[in-house]
Amino acid sequence: MTIIANLKMNKTNSEIKDYIMKLLSRYEKGKHEVVLCLPFTSLTTAKFLIDGSDVKLGAQNLCDDESGKNTGEISGEMLHDIGINYVIIGHSERRTKYKENAKAINKKIKIALKNRLKVVLCVGESLADKNLLKTFETLKTQIEDALKGLYENELENIVIAYEPIWAIGSGKIPLAKEIEGSIKAIRKVIANDFSEKASQKIEVLYGGSVDNKNCNTIAKIKEVDGLLVGGACLDAVNFSQLIKDVKV
Ligand code: 13P
Repeated sequence: MTIIANLKMNKTNSEIKDYIMKLLSRYEKGKHEVVLCLPFTSLTTAKFLIDGSDVKLGAQNLCDDESGKNTGEISGEMLHDIGINYVIIGHSERRTKYKENAKAINKKIKIALKNRLKVVLCVGESLADKNLLKTFETLKTQIEDALKGLYENELENIVIAYEPIWAIGSGKIPLAKEIEGSIKAIRKVIANDFSEKASQKIEVLYGGSVDNKNCNTIAKIKEVDGLLVGGACLDAVNFSQLIKDVKV
């Protein structure tokens, strides 16, 4: 399983040092692919601290331009240069709060791949979409817009995270059959636009209110290849326990 922690805008660099030391002291190597997506300010410190472990690092965003006049932005090349492995793209918080549109998401994915970063592409429906029975339609649009112009072999470096917006930080989780249905719908889009083989190969994670109690149940749902964890990753002891509790 792939278990990705999205720390969002939490923890100073000193707090991250403490967090990583605590996590590593309880961490069992080789069980899962564990990725810590940290604030930019802690990535170099974290890179030094995780040396020798199999924990991977990710950023939570990158610029939709390659270099130059983009005050305040971070490029794909900069992330690759400091040894970052993953980058989250298209998180709903960025789509809504920072008005990140489909075109920018598509550009960011291409820049990330060019710089040998693995993309965690977040997709998911709003509560309004869900109530209007538009979940599959939303997922199809988001995936097709994001993956426009990519070659099938590039999907090897893309992980899709299904994160229903209404499940993020709410304590609400879709029914197991809903998660399974949405991930099947995601694979169907990949099968139609690329190939059946690619649709079976691509990793699809679930995110949204994953915690220590529900992690293993969700991980066991057919079609789920991993978890994207927000709130429940913030405490290193809890998160290391969550990693242990995922038995799939
Ligand atoms: P929560 O786990 O806090 O619901 O956050 C999910 C998320 O947004 C991860 O990217």
